[in-house]
Amino acid sequence: MSSNNFTNQLLDWFVNNGRKYLPWQLKKSPYSVWISEIMLQQTQVKTVIPYYINFMKRFPNIESIAKCELDELLSYWSGLGYYARGRNIYKTAKILDKKYQSIFPKTYDEIIKLPGIGRSTAGAILALAYKKKYSILDGNVKRVLARYYRIEGFLQKSNIQEKLWNLADLNTPSSNVDQYTQAIMDLGATVCTRSRPKCFICPLSENCLARFYSEQDKLPTRKPRTKKSIREVGVMIIVDNKKSVLLEKRPNNGIWGGLYSFPELGDGQTINSWLDDNLREPVEKITRLNPIKHSFTHFNLLINPTKIKIENKPKKYRIKPRYFWHKLPIDREIGLAAPISVMINEL
Ligand code: ADE
Repeated sequence: MSSNNFTNQLLDWFVNNGRKYLPWQLKKSPYSVWISEIMLQQTQVKTVIPYYINFMKRFPNIESIAKCELDELLSYWSGLGYYARGRNIYKTAKILDKKYQSIFPKTYDEIIKLPGIGRSTAGAILALAYKKKYSILDGNVKRVLARYYRIEGFLQKSNIQEKLWNLADLNTPSSNVDQYTQAIMDLGATVCTRSRPKCFICPLSENCLARFYSEQDKLPTRKPRTKKSIREVGVMIIVDNKKSVLLEKRPNNGIWGGLYSFPELGDGQTINSWLDDNLREPVEKITRLNPIKHSFTHFNLLINPTKIKIENKPKKYRIKPRYFWHKLPIDREIGLAAPISVMINEL
């Protein structure tokens, strides 16, 4: 391709301004790029860093994931959100272990088939780990391109996506593709930020159409926000006199999929009817605790906890298979939903 201003200006900028010492850049391998790119989907670098470091200490390679229990892997994801990512890492590791001798594949067609890896993440892995000429189009890159080329329209629309992918392809170089890929993400994250972009230090500002028309605030076009709905749920913190607490393993779909939480009251269910259906143990004391707010992408959750003290956890009758007794304090071997973890620590 002929020399391209956009690409060259970005590559020049990267030399002095790009991020080169993030934990996943230090001992770079296809494995470390894969894990970090999954963690960085929809999550900021500063949030990911401690999770990435802990995860890599416990899971230094594909085999270590393939051999572990999903519960343990999810315990390392607790608090990071979007738990399907953790479950997909687990599924992928099993596939890699079985089909690829635990060696990460090198072609787009193989990588794109792996659970949790879409076009942009596949592109990032190919570009960053193998220096192959593949484009990425994550949120940061979309913003940079939409502004530079003054692309109007909602990013979710397929014709806008197509335009942006074409522009991404057009600018992705065949040499230094790893540096270019990191550079455009870094520019989006540190300079071409959503609010108050730092155009005065931007290497692309000279030819940026959004800047020319003073439309940085308007681009990319934002969907008007719909107000988040509020959901309420009652949970029971059931503790016996030897400090065991009853936890429920959540189904894999829905919020906190696969993580442990407190038993929840279903629609119209009361604490008494729940206890009657599930426990049938004499209750020593029932205390209502303060509600806890937790915010998800599409709704806010109000958790109403009730602490229920019982004498002894039931031995005779089996509890339903999704319920488990856990001795307090709980270490990090199991994946706890983040607000649940906070409540348990306060017990
Ligand atoms: N976001 C997604 N991938 C990233 C990376 N490799 N570095 C920084 N931010 C990112």
